[in-house]
Amino acid sequence: MDFQAIFKGRTLPAAFVNLDAFDANIETVLRRARNKLVRTASKSVRCVALLRRLEQKIGERYCGIMTYSGEETLHLAHAGFDRLLIGYPVTSENVLFELAKAVADGKQITFMVDLAEHVLRLEAAAQKAHATLDVCLDIDMSSRFPFLYFGVRRSSLTSVEDVEKILAVIGTCKRLRLVGVMGYEAQIAGLQDNLPGQAVKNAVVRALKARSIDEVARRRKAVVNFLKNKGCELRFVNGGGTGCLESTSQENVVTEVTAGSSFYSSGLFDGYKDFQHLPSAGFAVEVTRKPAKNIYTCSGGGYIASGAAGPDKLPKVWYPKGGKLLAHEGAGEVQTPVEFDGPVQLDIGDAVVMRHAKSGELCERFNSLLLVSDGKVVDEVPTYRGEGKCFL
Ligand SMILES: Cc1ncc(COP(=O)(O)O)c(C=O)c1O
Repeated sequence: MDFQAIFKGRTLPAAFVNLDAFDANIETVLRRARNKLVRTASKSVRCVALLRRLEQKIGERYCGIMTYSGEETLHLAHAGFDRLLIGYPVTSENVLFELAKAVADGKQITFMVDLAEHVLRLEAAAQKAHATLDVCLDIDMSSRFPFLYFGVRRSSLTSVEDVEKILAVIGTCKRLRLVGVMGYEAQIAGLQDNLPGQAVKNAVVRALKARSIDEVARRRKAVVNFLKNKGCELRFVNGGGTGCLESTSQENVVTEVTAGSSFYSSGLFDGYKDFQHLPSAGFAVEVTRKPAKNIYTCSGGGYIASGAAGPDKLPKVWYPKGGKLLAHEGAGEVQTPVEFDGPVQLDIGDAVVMRHAKSGELCERFNSLLLVSDGKVVDEVPTYRGEGKCFL
C-alpha cells in the first residue's frame, strides 16, 4: 500500500482498515475453522459497519456475535443485530433488566454464567421482565500443571462436579434455560509461539500448549457429555479464539468457534506457528519534528494495549518498514519519536503508520475508521467511540 498517497492531505492521526486484507482474513478464518460455525468477537472489532460486513461475508457459517458487555449488547441489539452471546457475566440489575426486556421483545441474547450468584441475578431480571432467558456456562479451560498454572483467572467452573452444582441451581429457576457451553482456552489462543530470536521460549510454549490442548479437549467433552446425559439440549458449544482455531476446530463436541482479532490482525498476532493473517488495521501519525538524523518525531501514537505491561503492548511501526520506537521513550502521550535509517525520505507532514498491539482497542482512540480498498480511501465509518459509546 502506498501509505503516503493514502494519507496525503488528510488530517492525522487517523485510523484505517484495509478492506482487501480484512476480507482475505475472513476467508482465512473460514479455512482455519474447518467445518465449524463462526461467531465474531465484537471486542476485537468495535465498529458496527465492520461487524455488519463480517456477518455478510461470513455468510451461512456465521452464527452471531460474542459481545463483551451488557450495554454493548443492547447497543448492537438496537442496531439490528441478533444471536448475541454475551461472553462475560453481566451482574448489574438495571442492565440485566434492559437485556431481559430486549429478549421479551424477541431478541436472541444468551447470558454467560459461572456462579450461582450470576444465575440468581438473571432469574430475578427474567421474572421482572416476564422473559425466559438463555444461559451459557463458561467452563474454565486453564491447565494446572505441577508448578505451573497455565491459563487465566475467569470462570469458577473447573470440573464436571462444578457443572453439576450450577446445573442444580439453574434447575430451580423457572425462567432460565441452559442452551450453551463456552470455554475459552486463553493460554493456547493468547500465547505467541513463533517469536523471532526466541527459539527456546517458543519450544517451551509449544510443548505446554500441546499438553493443554489435549487436556482442554477432554474436559470440554466430559462436560458436554455430562450435560447431554442430564437431558440438556445444547444449542451450541463454543470455543477458541483467533490464536487457536486449528486446535479448537478439531474437537468434535465444538459446534462453533469465536474469532475477532483475526480480522484486523493486530501486532500480538504476528508470532504464531500455525497461522498468519494479513495486518488490515492501523493508524497514521504525522511527522512534525526531526530532532536528529534518522529520528522522526510524530504527533500522538501512544496507544498502548491492555494486559501485563511490557514492550509487546506498544504499537509496531508498519511504515516506513524498518522504523522503530525508541526503547527509552516508547510511544508517547503526545509525541512519538521513530528511528528510521532507510531508503524512504520522510518530510514534515508525512505519515508514519503503526499497528496497535490489540485489535479492538485501536477503536477506543479514534472516532472513525477510514476504509481503504485498492489503495484508496473508499469510505469512513464510525467506531463505537465515534458513536459516543465507551463500554469498558
Ligand atoms: C471468551 C472469549 N472468546 C474468544 C476470544 C477470542 O477473541 P479474539 O479472536 O479476538 O482473540 C476471547 C478473547 O479474549 C474471549 O475472551
